[in-house]
Amino acid sequence: MTNQRRVTLVNEENQSVCELPVLSGTTGPDVVDVQDLYKKTGMFTYDPGYTSTASCSSKITFIDGEAGILLYRGYPIEQLAEQCTFLEVCYLLLNGELPTSSQMDQFEHSVTMHTMVHDQLTNFFKGFRRDAHPMAIIVGVVGALSAFYHDALDITNKKDRDLCAIRLIAKIPTIVAMSHKYSIGLPFMHPQNKLSYVENFMRMMLATPCDDFHPNPILVKALDRILILHADHEQNASTSTVRLAGSSGANPYACITAGIACLWGAAHGGANEAVLNMLEEIGDISHIDPYIKKAKDKNDPFRLMGFGHRVYKNYDPRAKLMRATCHEVLNELGLHDDRLFKLALELERIALEDEYFIEKKLYPNVDFYSGIVLRALGIPSNMFTAMFAMGRSVGWIAHWDEMISDPEQKIGRPRQLYTGSTRRDVVPMAAR
Ligand code: ACO
Repeated sequence: MTNQRRVTLVNEENQSVCELPVLSGTTGPDVVDVQDLYKKTGMFTYDPGYTSTASCSSKITFIDGEAGILLYRGYPIEQLAEQCTFLEVCYLLLNGELPTSSQMDQFEHSVTMHTMVHDQLTNFFKGFRRDAHPMAIIVGVVGALSAFYHDALDITNKKDRDLCAIRLIAKIPTIVAMSHKYSIGLPFMHPQNKLSYVENFMRMMLATPCDDFHPNPILVKALDRILILHADHEQNASTSTVRLAGSSGANPYACITAGIACLWGAAHGGANEAVLNMLEEIGDISHIDPYIKKAKDKNDPFRLMGFGHRVYKNYDPRAKLMRATCHEVLNELGLHDDRLFKLALELERIALEDEYFIEKKLYPNVDFYSGIVLRALGIPSNMFTAMFAMGRSVGWIAHWDEMISDPEQKIGRPRQLYTGSTRRDVVPMAAR
């Protein structure tokens, strides 16, 4: 990882303050290693929002935001989305290589055998109000998994960590579907082992015990693709949250819960729900212009949801795939004239021709089209972020595993630039 190159930090008189090593990865920008900066200079770096800071080294996912490239373990997202299933991608993210057919059979079998949740866990749902947001329920219930599998989990043991990953990937669809069923007052649907991962989820989510369920293969493929596109995205806010929580040695299910909580925000995974709400609010192609004006107005908090990304300064490759999936699903369902899809296409066209969005390099992100696909699949909008969480769980647990097994791993502990009061003495209350 080390490079022979060094950068020299100089003061205003151009005198060298210190030399810092430059590290190179396998691809992507080099990084300046500032680990010894404080020791050498008595100064910290200041980087709110980590816009220029690599918090760790990782072998899992690579993004080139300028070129619009996303690789999982070196494989382009386009090839994975076309040629692999979500479970194959899970195996890849966790193990570093695509599975052979027998490895895949074994992996799929293990996941299938862990889809049921402990019966006692179902009691947790009853403690929530029926109108609780599903993400609030999922945060609570996934966190509760740590109460079921704590003693049986030694995080320094690779086998235990692998089992934890399988449990999480297997149980999250069951928990997500249960949170939906609970909120609409319908009975929980138990997993069915003869179904594929996505078919099983769709049945638990959309079917009732009263009817047979016959999943449409095109819709199954679309949902599988949505999960692939959301499976990982290197050190995004929720993944960094999982790593930071895990860096103290905390229970992994509790760490994943921290990631789910972070994902919920509208600037992150909450955007897919916010996009659909925004499209509903705009309502008609004739109303787009005032909303574009609002988005550009610095004094107006309105932002075009599903647009812009911290890393992508080019078209998000996932958004392209999602737009194609949108076409496929709407055609299959005879909804090619879908009002919101037409509105989204027109909004994208207008925004991409607008000087403000061009200059700031704001392109549609993965969430711009995912809400329209999910809605067409019959998923209610308050479940959209939960669908994102379902896909991202594998990324979170893969990063947690990588962090725990990294010999350089230490507890995450950022520093700060203090701007509060300097030392002062307490004045007795009567004298204040
Ligand atoms: N609409 C209008 N203006 C925008 C938008 C937008 N969607 N996004 C960014 N801008 C503007 C900002 O006002 C800022 O302008 P300025 O330079 O004049 O101050 C500039 O573009 C840069 O934006 P920042 O917010 O500084 O960029 P940052 O990297 O911090 O934020 C983010 C990225 C949070 C995704 C932002 O683009 C946003 O809020 N987008 C809408 C929400 C969204 O779609 N989130 C999903 C992200 S993808 C994901 O989590 C899967």
